[in-house]
Amino acid sequence: MKNHQRGLFSNHSIGKLDLKNRLAVAPMTRISGNADGTTGPLMKDYYQAFAQGGFGLIITEGLYTDKHYSQGYKFQPGLTDEAQALSWKPIIDAVHESGSLFIAQLMHAGALSQYNKYTGCNAGPSAVKPLGQELIFYYGEGDYSTPKAMDKQDIDDAINGFVSAAKFAKLSGFDGVEIHGANGYLLDQFITVHTNERKDEFGGKLANRLRIYEKVITSIREAVGNDFTVGIRFSQGKVNDFEYKWPEKEQDAESTFKLAAKSGVDYLHTTEYNAVEPAFEKGLSLAQLAKKHGGISVIANGSIVNDNDALKMIETDQADIVTVGKMALSNPNWPQVIRDKKQLREFNFEMFNPLADLKTANEFLEKNT
Ligand SMILES: Cc1cc2nc3c(=O)[nH]c(=O)nc-3n(C[C@H](O)[C@H](O)[C@H](O)COP(=O)(O)O)c2cc1C
Repeated sequence: MKNHQRGLFSNHSIGKLDLKNRLAVAPMTRISGNADGTTGPLMKDYYQAFAQGGFGLIITEGLYTDKHYSQGYKFQPGLTDEAQALSWKPIIDAVHESGSLFIAQLMHAGALSQYNKYTGCNAGPSAVKPLGQELIFYYGEGDYSTPKAMDKQDIDDAINGFVSAAKFAKLSGFDGVEIHGANGYLLDQFITVHTNERKDEFGGKLANRLRIYEKVITSIREAVGNDFTVGIRFSQGKVNDFEYKWPEKEQDAESTFKLAAKSGVDYLHTTEYNAVEPAFEKGLSLAQLAKKHGGISVIANGSIVNDNDALKMIETDQADIVTVGKMALSNPNWPQVIRDKKQLREFNFEMFNPLADLKTANEFLEKNT
């Protein structure tokens, strides 16, 4: 049975993967790795709980991809060497044993990096100081630093980092990778006009600003082959600029989603504050635009709290899969709860106070259950 039965608990295939349902966990950085970028002791139980709770797919937190400028946060896990890659093996086995598929998100923080144990500084498309303030719950403080403008070698290093991380993800047993092209991080800094002042082939018109996406996707595809699932995430809003909208609206959406699909990804993952709302003043949601212009599987994210929110996306064919973020943190068994028509637990931001790490969350949950 392939993708014709709608409903949250119907099957769907993305790339070569057969998902048992339409429910996935959104990527969430939890800064709970070890200082050397390997996985930390609390991470196995954290990820396995989502699998035991019935999610068909889990996307990891963003993993940094190279030892140059990709690391974003202190205690963020990486995928840059064999030790880091193999440290995922027990977690991947636990997730698989509990019945879920597991995709690694590959992330280069670029100008938004708040901590880098390798180079001690940040780099982006241009030397433009990011808007907003560093994230305190990831050990940040005050303004972002102005990044170094990347030269051609830095761009090559970043692309090669994505490729090498994808190969490490395959080696360690993940079912696929998701390229983090969203939320204001490096790739998104290239498409965003005010963070990309480059005069070379990576700056200027949108086709140039998208060039790095094309290179990352095609290079990863070439390295991992057609049997390994590769997706990409897009958003308009950014962690440091929630209100940002693509300047040419649907025209930008069309170029962006067409380019990504043509370059060889198996799915597009869109994230907006509210997945169901029009991407621009009126009209289609970002997920619908991805479907319309990409013509491949779409995963949608943003403010999906309960089964009605999820059904709005799936039954109307706005998306094939939905990802749940914060509500999955307060309900790792979200799919079971909605299937059994039980009460969901509300999400409480105290879970991230003072840090958005697993130790803080576990202490919060112990006190509040
Ligand atoms: C603590 C936290 C960490 C996050 N880290 C990431 C990340 O590493 N990569 C990513 O693409 N999105 C990240 N996000 C964004 C989520 O994937 C998701 O888009 C957001 O929480 C909105 O979905 P929700 O309304 O279901 O929570 C993070 C969100 C939270 C709350």
